[in-house]
Amino acid sequence: MTPPTTLPAWAQLQSLAGAAQPHLRDVLPADHGRAERMSLKVAGITLDASRQRVSPAIQQALVALADQSGVAAQRDAMFRGERINATEDRPVLHVALRGDPLHTGPWGAEVQKDVQRELARICDFAEALRAGTVLGHAGDAITDIVNIGIGGSDLGPRMAADALAHLAHPGLRVHYVSNPDAWALWSVLRGLDARRTLFIVSSKTFTTQETLTNAASAQRWLTDHGVPADAVARHLVAITASPAQAAKLGYAAERTFLFWDWVGGRYSVWSALGLPLAIAIGSEHFRLFLAGARAMDEHFCSAPLAQNLPVQLALNGIWNRNFLGLPTHLIVPYASRLVRFTPFVQQMDMESNGKRTHTDGSAASVDTGPIVWGGLGIDGQHAYFQLIHQGRHTVPVDFIGVQNEDTPLPLAATHHGVVNLNLRAQAEAMARGRSLADTQALLQQDGMGEAEAKAMAGHRSFEGNIPSHILWLDRLDPARLGALIALYEHKVFTQAAIWRINAYDQWGVELGKTMAKAMERQAAG
Ligand code: F6P
Repeated sequence: MTPPTTLPAWAQLQSLAGAAQPHLRDVLPADHGRAERMSLKVAGITLDASRQRVSPAIQQALVALADQSGVAAQRDAMFRGERINATEDRPVLHVALRGDPLHTGPWGAEVQKDVQRELARICDFAEALRAGTVLGHAGDAITDIVNIGIGGSDLGPRMAADALAHLAHPGLRVHYVSNPDAWALWSVLRGLDARRTLFIVSSKTFTTQETLTNAASAQRWLTDHGVPADAVARHLVAITASPAQAAKLGYAAERTFLFWDWVGGRYSVWSALGLPLAIAIGSEHFRLFLAGARAMDEHFCSAPLAQNLPVQLALNGIWNRNFLGLPTHLIVPYASRLVRFTPFVQQMDMESNGKRTHTDGSAASVDTGPIVWGGLGIDGQHAYFQLIHQGRHTVPVDFIGVQNEDTPLPLAATHHGVVNLNLRAQAEAMARGRSLADTQALLQQDGMGEAEAKAMAGHRSFEGNIPSHILWLDRLDPARLGALIALYEHKVFTQAAIWRINAYDQWGVELGKTMAKAMERQAAG
């Protein structure tokens, strides 16, 4: 393994970072054609990277870094199914889950066959539920589905179901419970009829304490509400990569949907774990969701590094993290249906790249994954944006907007205008800021005396120079959503490839789990 710091491009970037760079407020008006030059459109998503603090020389050196790091070769190894998750000795093949159903991808025929078989099973089951032909033990059609799962077995389908809520089946309600706090489950169950309720227990390992606690409690609720013990299985579905474990707990084989150890939990929304989403939006929309991700995969595999959307997102992130020394990354969607997008990417990014060891076992020689945080942008404006504008941290931002809105409310266009104007204004205000001198001059123009304007200027000026991306989705539909998620997945992959870390294990979550188990044993005597 070549440590990233030994690559010529790394040294070149370090020297570029040491040289003075102009402020974005000077660059933006002077650099004609910058927005066009620094924009890329792929699969219905447009990236505007013009507010990144990168010059053409920096961009070139970043692309050279990706090249010298062997990003393309590492990417191809992933798609071929090589065991790139070396610490768990597994391939990483979530891309196969959204592969072309008619053509076997580089992962080979066996994987292709397994994927298409399970996809057909979940699509059939989702359609049967939507048609009202999946019945409870007493012959009633199921109306409520409760997904029990946590982390990757919750965040993906839940986020996507919110994002595509406009496509949800009107007669079916899909609920999500992740927290093992009794209230979380009770607050969902208290309104439900056990005869019409189906539980989906989603867990890759089928050993997660939080999920098994909720699943056992759900079974007890079923029997307490009149479901005979020998009919409980009719109200249960398991989604897992450990079918033997599910069988031991009484889940029927025909109601167990599978994925495989080569699908990481945080990359599993494309697998059988997407069943709650497929139930809500229907199998046709679910397949469009997969196709959107596939379009991003095809771009990632074929576009040159300098015009490659995920690679560009990754490289700007590397510049901000490693060369400008900015440790956090804010993601702010402006469409309220994307309310759960940031927590979803937070798991994907932080559980993947929150590592301090290179792939060869040596201590990481560079800073790795940033702290990813955020939420809906408009709400953030009225909460924590103050710190972004005037605090002492520089926080790089991804703004995510939707260009065409189709909510059937009479004044929808007005709402949409307000939302997108705010997005644009924030990106611009963060980039340009307002200098002390300009602020003082403005205050004086407004009639304030010179001494007072001078005293106030510090409070009312803005440092600016805050780097941001804007990602515009043409519209919020299954294909664009699929492409957006795949974009972030490949960004995370590319950064890990450059940092030389394994993005696909998560040993960091083990110690706390082990200690909780030990405490449980101790408490039991
Ligand atoms: O503890 C972290 C984690 O293992 C995540 O990686 C995973 O998404 C989550 O727990 C749930 O795991 P499982 O699907 O096996 O229940």
